Parts: sequence; structure tokens; C-alpha cells
Amino acid sequence: MKYALPKLNYSYQALEPYIDELTMTIHHSKHHQAYVDNLNAALDKHPELYEKSLPELLKNIDDLPSDIRVAVKNNGGGVYNHNFFWKILKNNPNGQPKGALMDAIVRDFGSYNAFKDAFAAAAKSRFGSGWAWLVVNAQHKLEIVSTANQDAVFHLGTPILTLDVWEHAYYLRYQNRRPDYINAFFQIIDWDAVSDLFLLSY
Ligand SMILES: [Fe+2]
Repeated sequence: MKYALPKLNYSYQALEPYIDELTMTIHHSKHHQAYVDNLNAALDKHPELYEKSLPELLKNIDDLPSDIRVAVKNNGGGVYNHNFFWKILKNNPNGQPKGALMDAIVRDFGSYNAFKDAFAAAAKSRFGSGWAWLVVNAQHKLEIVSTANQDAVFHLGTPILTLDVWEHAYYLRYQNRRPDYINAFFQIIDWDAVSDLFLLSY
């Protein structure tokens, strides 16, 4: 089946003032839509690949036909990463993780604030375009990593939280001030959704 732009379960204004309505509108309806359209255009050349899941395609990118390999890496990555991102967002000022997830954060980073600092540092230091992630790694520990462009994260662990640090994600409101956007991100994390992903990772 062809890929489709997922509906958000909140409005484009819902994340104000941390992410503004115009940024959300363009980010979802234009940027994300373009990744979906370009992924479908690539897979139309090899329609049997619609039978595989998107993670399966992205994990085995070198096995794809060479004429669509780069297009699937970039656009399939764009679809997967944005689908993931929208699901862990919620207007949630001063929200914090709870329960087993908070216990794991304290175990692996020392404290919630130390986790925030480390995540923000990864997001700030990703040069150019990319993503910061909290993953559960192969040793079942929480780890902060970052990826470039729309590269897949799976080889680094099972993702449970992410932040899009492409300029298209923040430029209209924050211009060059990526650190302000990163600080604002901690007010719009749906920690219940992250916790569900954490529990599923075991
Ligand atoms: Fe994006």
C-alpha cells in the first residue's frame, strides 16, 4: 500500500507557543507530505517493495535496487522520522517522565536535569540537519545519539524520543536560535507516549 501523510491527533496550534502554528502547518502539510510523495514515487518503480515495512526497508538499504536506494534512504527516512516525532509531542509544560522510565533516566544519566543537558547538547551539536534521539541500546541502557539528515536510527538502538533539528522545524519562530527551540522542546514532550515506547522496547 502506498504511504500516506498521517493525521496528527492535535491541531497545528496545539504546541503554541513552543512550536508555532505556521511552522507546524508547513512542516506537516508540506515537508512531511513531500517525503511521503517522493517515497511513493520511488517505490512505484519497484512496487513489490510496498509489501515490506518502512523499518525493514531502512534497515536493509543496501539491498534495495540501486536506482531508488538514495531516494528511499532520504524520503523513507523522512517519513519514518516525522511519523515518530509527531507521536511524542504534546503541550505539556513542566512535564517529566514517571515510573520505570524516570528510574531508567536516573540510572543511566544521574538525574532528569542531567538527561536534559545531555539531550540538548546532542541536539545543539548535530551539525547541519538531523535529529537527536533517546534510544534503548543493545545493552538495554538509555543512550542519547544523533543522526544526520534523514538517516535511520535503528543501528543505534530502539528509539523512544526524538527531536527534529532541521531548520525547517524551527526557523520561522527561532531563526538561528536552535538552543531556544531545544529548550522549548522540553515543554512539549508527551512523556506517557515515550514511556509506552520505553516499555515496549523490552
Ligand atoms: Fe522535519
